[in-house]
Amino acid sequence: MIEIREAREEDRESAIRLLWKAFEATTNYDDYLKQEWIERWNNPEKENYAYVAVDKGKVVSSLSFFTTSEHEQIIRGASVRFAGVWGVTTDAAYRRRGLVKKLFDISFPRMREEKASLSILDPFHRPFYEKFSFALSEKRTRHIFNRGQIRAGKTRDDIIIREAKDPEDRKTIQQVERSMIRFGSRFFSSDGPLDYVMKNGIMHILEDKNGPVGCVWFNFTRGPPFTPPELTVSMSRYTSDDVFPSIVELVRNYSANVSKITWWADADVPVRHYFTDIHQPESHMLGSMMMRVVDLEDYCHSIKIPEETSEKVTIELNDDQCPWNTGVYTLIPDGGNLRAERSNSEPEISLNAFQLSEMIGGITPPTLLRSLQEIKCNAETAKRLDKMFPADTFVSYVRF
Ligand SMILES: CC(C)(COP(=O)(O)OP(=O)(O)OC[C@H]1O[C@@H](n2cnc3c(N)ncnc32)[C@H](O)[C@@H]1OP(=O)(O)O)[C@@H](O)C(=O)NCCC(=O)NCCS
Repeated sequence: MIEIREAREEDRESAIRLLWKAFEATTNYDDYLKQEWIERWNNPEKENYAYVAVDKGKVVSSLSFFTTSEHEQIIRGASVRFAGVWGVTTDAAYRRRGLVKKLFDISFPRMREEKASLSILDPFHRPFYEKFSFALSEKRTRHIFNRGQIRAGKTRDDIIIREAKDPEDRKTIQQVERSMIRFGSRFFSSDGPLDYVMKNGIMHILEDKNGPVGCVWFNFTRGPPFTPPELTVSMSRYTSDDVFPSIVELVRNYSANVSKITWWADADVPVRHYFTDIHQPESHMLGSMMMRVVDLEDYCHSIKIPEETSEKVTIELNDDQCPWNTGVYTLIPDGGNLRAERSNSEPEISLNAFQLSEMIGGITPPTLLRSLQEIKCNAETAKRLDKMFPADTFVSYVRF
């Protein structure tokens, strides 16, 4: 019989092999075992948890998640502790038997126990995770162009640009990243991913007399045979818009001998403003991260809402996978905070867990969801919900 349970140390070897088969079978197994994250798998002391399905002593399905500490994320204006799901896989011989479903069933209560009111993941396939009530919540952009297609802007001559190499620079980069919250919700880079990018590319910090004002990362890769290399630009962050032209200038300078530039940026970063050729460069709207509410009362309590929002809404929620959420609540705004109180009032809208996730996800606000016939309520209720959950771009600087 297949046993579904929290992972134990004795499962490590077979779980790691299962993850290798699912995600990294193109790499050499011995090299794979040297990767830094292996030690993080099932390490509750470091807030990493794993649940497994075990058949005859062998792990045949696995789901891992970590919980965040306060300084790493700002979601809807506040620090919302979340569970980041990763390493979801079932052995090829055991698929479509409901094993991942069972692993989610025992993971959600643990997430709640660990005080994560929200869960976030990077899906391989959107409909698969919609089954577990996760909704798309991230927006970011990929621009593809060549050097001749981007022009210079008016740079500030008081900005000094230096290369970031020192572990101390991580703090500086994180400080700049936190300023990007003016564009919406963020999960910031922690030390591990920052060490990786500093070692695998060229990281720059921009400073003026008051301290750090921007950063940007460059990485060169080989192009097709007999062509110049290609350049990837990423992590372009800045504390105020007048820093951005200096980042554009640095990108132009690094692009001198490259065949193609791919620039990953937040959706609101004005890269296209600098394109001379408006037909050839490509800009793709992407963003894959999905989120789901694990504990409604805690989630509402954790976030900030616009201060001017004052009208209540009574909702009915049905949540099969997190049954503690099921019930009728009145959502009560209170000077920029939100409370979800159990209520006996007549609900103005009835939602399932997926509809709730779509509503708080930040990409499709409630009035648009109503027009698209994804939720059912009157127009006035949708408008009141919009004021609590306006559009809010989420960007995860850490993919997991
Ligand atoms: C995707 C994967 C994890 C599914 O595991 P599983 O144990 O077979 O999933 P379950 O049997 O619990 O399926 C749960 C639901 O998803 C559906 N489903 C399963 N695999 C699916 C797939 N590849 N695409 C779409 N739906 C899928 C099932 O039909 C079931 O739906 P139902 O409840 O309506 O019947 C597994 O196929 C896998 O390991 N794939 C390779 C690794 C991978 O891509 N992991 C995801 C990383 S984000």
